[in-house]
Amino acid sequence: MQIYDNVNILINIGGKKISKNRQRAVNQTQVIVFKTINELKNYLNDQKGSGKTLGFVPTMGALHQGHISLIQKSLTQTDITICSIFVNPTQFNNSIDLEKYPRTTAEDMKLLAAANCDVLFIPSVLEMYPNGQIKNTEDYGSITTLFEGEKRPGHFDGVITIVSRFFEIINPNQTFFGQKDYQQCMVVAELINRHFKTIKLCIEPTVRQNDGLAMSSRNSRLNKSELLEALAISKALFYVKENWGSYEINDLLHEARNIIQSAGILKIEYFEICHKITLERLSGHSNQYDDAVVVTAVFCGDVRLIDNLIVYK
Ligand code: PAJ
Repeated sequence: MQIYDNVNILINIGGKKISKNRQRAVNQTQVIVFKTINELKNYLNDQKGSGKTLGFVPTMGALHQGHISLIQKSLTQTDITICSIFVNPTQFNNSIDLEKYPRTTAEDMKLLAAANCDVLFIPSVLEMYPNGQIKNTEDYGSITTLFEGEKRPGHFDGVITIVSRFFEIINPNQTFFGQKDYQQCMVVAELINRHFKTIKLCIEPTVRQNDGLAMSSRNSRLNKSELLEALAISKALFYVKENWGSYEINDLLHEARNIIQSAGILKIEYFEICHKITLERLSGHSNQYDDAVVVTAVFCGDVRLIDNLIVYK
């Protein structure tokens, strides 16, 4: 096993640091960790040279089963799976949100090792933004200005900037994103369509807790009663799914928003029913549409949660 940087770590499933020889002896899973672009690129070039395909899963850490499901999918589809952990400052339009974003690198490394992820890239802000935090200025139209784009101005420009930078560095064969961030998936699809046509985008289903709450790194900031109240979000989404085709869209929206509002302290930022691709709001009787996507952002206390569901007849 090559070590690529003296601050790099070889991780074992138990998370304890043990000697290299012992790690080999017990044959534990190891994740190769890179902190610099050059070392990562050298390693990946070697792998590509020997014909290996690359799968890339970008994350901001605080990993949970939602992230791990993407890693698992990549492992089944490609030879080498690279996960990045980078809390990207340019996609936060609220400095408190950035500051409070959970950072749990040691735990993340254990999860990645247990999942058999091959490579972790964990760069510094300076490594990713050597010329300052300059954002995308290309116009992506309404997919970047509706909903998340409207409530978090500049958010998608930050996402486009960092995902482009990762794609340029890694140039994966496939990249894996979660449907949990539906609008982000649409934006990344457009980015790939414009600039990275060789990369295949795989969108994977949202992983939920048994009670329906979509897994999210932000859930760790919810207290017990907030966790209970947050269940109303998925309840409202599934209400629309179960009743799709039976009612006027306005009536479905009214009832679904009611489910959320009557749950307690939840504050809806938006709860809308839209066209699956263009994200334009739909109206009239739901019966006239085969399918749609329901998108929502809700404040639970001071924690902002997003979720969505595709509904169909
Ligand atoms: P992050 O919120 O860490 O999410 C990383 C990936 O995990 C995204 O593709 C997201 O959609 C997916 N994900 C999160 N929760 C999920 C769940 N419950 N089920 C399935 N997938 C889930 O999204 C970002 O980071 C950033 O914007 C990033 C793309 C890394 C750019 O900075």
